[in-house]
Amino acid sequence: MAVYLDHNATTPVAPDVVKKITDSLNEEWGNPSSGYEPGVKSKEGIEKARRQVALMIGGNSEDIIFTSGGTEANNMVIFGIVDYYEDWLKSVSCGKGTTDKPHVITTNVEHDSVMLPIKYLEKRGAIDVSVVPVSPKGCVVPQDVISEIRHTTCLVTIMLANNETGVIMPVEEIGRYLKEVNKQRKAEKLIKILYHTDAAQGIGKIRVDADELSVDYLTIVGHKFYGPRIGCLYAHGLGRETPVYPLLHGGGQEQGYRPGTENTAMIAGLGEAARLVCENLTEYYTHMKEIRDYLEEKLKEAFGEDCVAFNCSKGVRRLPNTCSVSLIGEGLVGHVVLSRCTYIMASTVAACHTQNKPSGILLASGVPRHQAVNAIRLSVGRETTRDNIDIAVKDMKHSVTALSSKKSP
Ligand SMILES: Cc1ncc(COP(=O)(O)O)c(C=O)c1O
Repeated sequence: MAVYLDHNATTPVAPDVVKKITDSLNEEWGNPSSGYEPGVKSKEGIEKARRQVALMIGGNSEDIIFTSGGTEANNMVIFGIVDYYEDWLKSVSCGKGTTDKPHVITTNVEHDSVMLPIKYLEKRGAIDVSVVPVSPKGCVVPQDVISEIRHTTCLVTIMLANNETGVIMPVEEIGRYLKEVNKQRKAEKLIKILYHTDAAQGIGKIRVDADELSVDYLTIVGHKFYGPRIGCLYAHGLGRETPVYPLLHGGGQEQGYRPGTENTAMIAGLGEAARLVCENLTEYYTHMKEIRDYLEEKLKEAFGEDCVAFNCSKGVRRLPNTCSVSLIGEGLVGHVVLSRCTYIMASTVAACHTQNKPSGILLASGVPRHQAVNAIRLSVGRETTRDNIDIAVKDMKHSVTALSSKKSP
């Protein structure tokens, strides 16, 4: 019996979501821009989903833009910053002759869909960047972010929770600081610093409320919370308080911010996935945490406390479902241990990275290289049981025994 322990890579689609998508494909097939019945139904399906997604993050439905996924939502925010800065320079009539560039602050453990567009713009000379290193506990320190602020800073982007370690970042605390900083900047006629969080790994696992976090932008990724493989961008007071610049240009869909005929069925499915989170988050959280804690106990029991290292420091807030673990011993490289397992489906690093190198995220999070090489990321889900965990731990034990006997003469 296979045991799926890679819910941070993607989740299965919830049965209610599958049903919603199927129903929508059958009943909401019209073009939402058409004024006759099938189109109207399709439009209604989209607007219902928008309300459901907004409710999940405590936002207004008119502030939600559906996108193809998290990568697109993150890119929209980051590429938009160049236009935002230019428009601001024009508005204060110092557009010409200034050599200043927009300045962006981020951390060294962001997902590639944040880090690579930033690096791209930096390389092209379009932005200046401060990459704040996380502490040896894998968590960014608010003061380190705040102390990077310059007069040209116009975006701070900090992930809500890390996909590899599960560490929850102090997004709320930084948001509170930024609110105060922005009040002062307004008085000094400096550009407002926009604040973005990539909440891909937080949603469906912990409470996420855009207002509490004081963010201007928030990225939502459906396939991390049992929804379909689309996403959205939330922008607080979209177009009025928070500017959004489209990446694509075409029709007027999504208020013109994301043109192209809407993917009604997947949007309806995303709304249904959001409904499930709204109604059951406490239950999901409690279950995942109980199973993850059980997994960690069983790992210690099976391998001995001295031979198991968890790649997340004690006392740090972390997701309820994530366990990044390294088995200590020569030859126990994460992907080699996993390759000898019969039942476990898991990964060593984020799905988009190579399995052969130690994870840069773990190294940046203070995990020693020899330990990072052995890391295995186990992420449990809503349906994972204690029986699954017993099978998985036994499986790892067999793998390690096999590897150890291979080494002995
Ligand atoms: C933290 C984080 N941000 C963004 C993404 C990208 O989402 P998508 O694959 O939907 O583009 C992921 C997915 O792996 C993620 O874990």
